[in-house]
Amino acid sequence: MSTVYKSVDGYPLKASCDEHLFQFRLTAWQHEPHSIEIMKGKQLMPRVVGLNEKELETLDILSMRGNKIMSDILYEGKSKIIYRGPNNESLIIRYKDTATAFNGEKKAELSGKGKLNAAISSLIYGYLAEHGVETHLIEVIDDATALVKKAEIVMIEVIVRNVAAGSFSKKYGVPEGTALKNTVIEFSLKSDELGDPMINESQITAIGLATEEELKEMTRQAFRINELLCALFAKTGIRLIDFKLEFGRYDGKLILCDEISPDSCRLWDIDTDKKLDKDRFRRDLGDVLDSYQDVLRRLQNVR
Ligand SMILES: Nc1ncnc2c1ncn2[C@@H]1O[C@H](COP(=O)(O)OP(=O)(O)O)[C@@H](O)[C@H]1O
Ligand SMILES: [Mg+2]
Repeated sequence: MSTVYKSVDGYPLKASCDEHLFQFRLTAWQHEPHSIEIMKGKQLMPRVVGLNEKELETLDILSMRGNKIMSDILYEGKSKIIYRGPNNESLIIRYKDTATAFNGEKKAELSGKGKLNAAISSLIYGYLAEHGVETHLIEVIDDATALVKKAEIVMIEVIVRNVAAGSFSKKYGVPEGTALKNTVIEFSLKSDELGDPMINESQITAIGLATEEELKEMTRQAFRINELLCALFAKTGIRLIDFKLEFGRYDGKLILCDEISPDSCRLWDIDTDKKLDKDRFRRDLGDVLDSYQDVLRRLQNVR
């Protein structure tokens, strides 16, 4: 079947879709005379009767050929690529297979990592949203790609610690694995050039990175997210040692942005203390992808 649709910026689109294969072919003429193939994920399944406004808008930008997104790259980070979204309020995030550590000094391609982190992060964001945490996630586009709300990122990383590890252990001489008497919240300046230095609250407000109210709100949300994540991971037999959060300003509020994945958390098996996170890569412990896969499988089992 073949139907004529109009794209959001006005050029006509010829579309045909095969109900059974759930494959959607779209030809934009008067534009570039190429055909764009879109393999639909669960979320954006084309309907035989036609597409709604949102789907059309999204297709307009998310047109994929092979696995390539045909939209402008706005930013390429260490582990994700950010593309222009279908409108000014959204962005497309594509998770890369690149693993980096020590501020980009150590780097490797781990085939499949992008998809694992995308799946883990969206599962966690879905869980947090169900429990009242506002996140940037709008919808999953495909295995490694998500549509998110475009926020103004607060240039601070919020670090939450339940157990001493990593830089905390090193800096303060507390052996890794020591349970902390209270939850620790730390802030660091989001700056690769400066090596993400730790920064305190009066320094943050003094240089205008965030207001006092915003700091209070990020701290409140960080504690709440910690409670929720500890409970979720405990069900999977994993101890949440520490993790990093990023927040962004959107619609007058602070929402949870970026990702929560084994790249941004320390996750230890409750029984064996086996590390199931990026420390396997940082410290050359091997089995990086198997461990990420294990985290995903365990989360899927309790969700
Ligand atoms: N919802 C969002 N809106 C705007 N920017 C975001 C959002 N979520 C994440 N980001 C930003 O996108 C980038 C993600 O790519 P990443 O590879 O993690 O970059 P980096 O190397 O800077 O850590 C980060 O700079 C992050 O702050
Ligand atoms: Mg990052």
